[in-house]
Amino acid sequence: MAFRLLLLPGDGIGPEVIAEVERIIAWFNAEGARFEIERDFVGGAAFDVHGTPVTEAAMKKALEADAVLFGAVGGPKWAGVPYDMRPEAALLRLRKDLGLFANLRPAICFDALKDSSALKPEVVSGLDIMIVRELTGGVYFGEPRGITTLADGERRAVDTQVYTTGEIRRIARVAFELARKRRNKVASAEKHNVMHSGLLWKEEVTHVHATEFKDVELTHILADNCAMQLVRNPKQFDVIVTDNLFGDVLSDEAAMLTGSIGMLPSASLGNRDAKTGKQRALYEPIHGSAPDIAGKGVANPLAAILSFAMCLRYSFAMAQEADLLERAIAQILDDGYRTRDVMQAGRSELGTAAMGAKVLGALDKLHA
Ligand code: IPM
Ligand code: MG
Repeated sequence: MAFRLLLLPGDGIGPEVIAEVERIIAWFNAEGARFEIERDFVGGAAFDVHGTPVTEAAMKKALEADAVLFGAVGGPKWAGVPYDMRPEAALLRLRKDLGLFANLRPAICFDALKDSSALKPEVVSGLDIMIVRELTGGVYFGEPRGITTLADGERRAVDTQVYTTGEIRRIARVAFELARKRRNKVASAEKHNVMHSGLLWKEEVTHVHATEFKDVELTHILADNCAMQLVRNPKQFDVIVTDNLFGDVLSDEAAMLTGSIGMLPSASLGNRDAKTGKQRALYEPIHGSAPDIAGKGVANPLAAILSFAMCLRYSFAMAQEADLLERAIAQILDDGYRTRDVMQAGRSELGTAAMGAKVLGALDKLHA
């Protein structure tokens, strides 16, 4: 059976890192996998060509694909475009229209990189956290929203934080299921001491736990305390489940603990259709478009490649292949190869394409 992948490289370093993912896909195809590739523009790149950050045709391809591999969007070039035409609007529309409510953001500290963290090596060595961020609700999409001018000339901005029981329960289930395959612990982060949506969040997560996941250890933590604990003692966490906005912030913080935001992948998943088994999914490196280094051939392609490993694991149940790819990358780091973002004294610096080639070489060796 062939799997259909839609590549949306986007802006900045997106096209450079996705080009390396394409070489990895070709390697798996040569080994007998059957990935079929389609491509389209997204973000500023789509705006430049079509005057919109994502076309209806691209949305249709995304809805039909078995998985979407996304690069990055945004950059100073599009700072002046209308708000609803900004590159990021494409990503939000993809998340919403594909129903990608579960965002999985692992923060893993590769042993070879533990000295790159701003924290002491002993605090981060062996770190392996999974942040489960709700991705299609909360303040990112809540209504009403907007800026209005009042009678006295003041301007007033409104965003709405809103959650329903169904939205909270389904993301809680994702977190508990994942925890069962890991260290069996979930920390649920919200602000029930200030926000009604936080109170409902806490009650519903507690309910799902009591009725379906009693075997998993659940703790509740205030989101601000969670931010603090992440830098104080991050290894206390296994799975953290949280809302869209707190998840945005906490996942950037957790990423930086590893010392290498250029290394971290993510998966955004929808519901699995009970009849067809189909589950919509989008995979993206979390580093963003990095316009300052775009086009220079120095971007780290490993986060994008690790995102493809997540794709193999979650969309295609190819766990062995995902393991192989992850082992290849760990091997290269152990051998001392680094892109500029994680370069250390005494190591060998590689550009984007050379790093991609190293991964292919390591795959060949490990596979032989
Ligand atoms: C992320 C990003 C996005 C978000 C932006 C680009 C809209 O920061 O994926 O974390 O805020 O969700
Ligand atoms: Mg973010």
